[in-house]
Amino acid sequence: MEPLPLRLQLQVLIYCCNIVSLLMRDIYYNQDCITGAREHLPDKSVDLIITDPPFAINGDILHKHYHRKEEHVFEGYVEVDQEEYRDFSIKWLHEAHRVLKDTGSMYVVSGWSNLLDILLALEKNDFEIINHIIWKYNFGVSTRHKFVTSHYHILYCKKSGAKRVKFNTFCRFGTSEKNGDNSSMLYNDLEDVWVINRDFKKGRLRNKNTLPAELLKKMILYSSDEDDLVCDLFLGSFSTAKIARSLNRYSTGFEMNGDVYDYQLEQMHNIERGYMLKELCSNGGNPHHNQRKRWTEEEASKVIERYNAIKSAGLTDKKAYHLLSMEFGRGYFSMMNIVKKNRRA
Ligand SMILES: C[S@@+](CC[C@H](N)C(=O)[O-])C[C@H]1O[C@@H](n2cnc3c(N)ncnc32)[C@H](O)[C@@H]1O
Repeated sequence: MEPLPLRLQLQVLIYCCNIVSLLMRDIYYNQDCITGAREHLPDKSVDLIITDPPFAINGDILHKHYHRKEEHVFEGYVEVDQEEYRDFSIKWLHEAHRVLKDTGSMYVVSGWSNLLDILLALEKNDFEIINHIIWKYNFGVSTRHKFVTSHYHILYCKKSGAKRVKFNTFCRFGTSEKNGDNSSMLYNDLEDVWVINRDFKKGRLRNKNTLPAELLKKMILYSSDEDDLVCDLFLGSFSTAKIARSLNRYSTGFEMNGDVYDYQLEQMHNIERGYMLKELCSNGGNPHHNQRKRWTEEEASKVIERYNAIKSAGLTDKKAYHLLSMEFGRGYFSMMNIVKKNRRA
């Protein structure tokens, strides 16, 4: 039998990958992520990885050291020995690299104590850091004889050599949105220092180090689209998976602590798919809130200015009209008409 032409072979391969990633949607494993990923996640099947590995700082007993009573926190957090941390990081990041699509990106949350091991493991696995983000949070552990630690590092990466990874620049703010002091909301949001408070859920059962919803929302919106597959190799309280579902993304991942896994898997059923998308628009959920308003000359010329800027960044007309529609709160076709009218003039 004649072999299929290369192009057809590629199409079959892409088709099979799509089928496999459909099967992985919203399936979570009570398993070690290194062996689990090898077993369940095919190559290049994931659009985005957001993960917060154990930090090898005795996270399982740290509260005892600080004489803190940790109520409503699950027992059984699985920590890694400091001596094994570099090797452990190399192994799980090897799997992360294998499962990530070439257009995909990854956010790794790390404390500062063992950051070097993570940086070396990223390099060893051919990841390239796009941004080194500092996340400043509230409620650091008080200290008397040194400064209080109140930040984490977030390493935003892509595969080395990947040309362009998905980044939705205008997913949260448009160019014309201003803060009270007239500074640009978009610029502030794109800065690499993020000030985001931890969620404090009184009386609610949680994992140690649960990531706040606001932080996850930001990473997911900028780096994935609806229906994409998001993976968290260290699920903890499933916070990545919960926000992914709330934003109409699919997710998968691993957690070794059986009690947390059982409890959180149950909690996932209570989350309505996509409900956060409605809350994102401050205008009652209508992304076209300016649709019936009169055009001013000033607004029309701003649209043209933005269109030219978007096009010079290499985006297609279709993508440009879509972005303009979100930024200016008007329909896709009215954006197209303004641009065409300007061309004719
Ligand atoms: C820092 S916590 C993750 C917290 C999570 N991001 C959240 O918001 O709840 C790390 C989690 O990884 C789990 N863990 C440790 N080693 C693991 C491994 N090899 N595979 C999967 N999970 C693991 C721990 O039990 C812990 O729940």
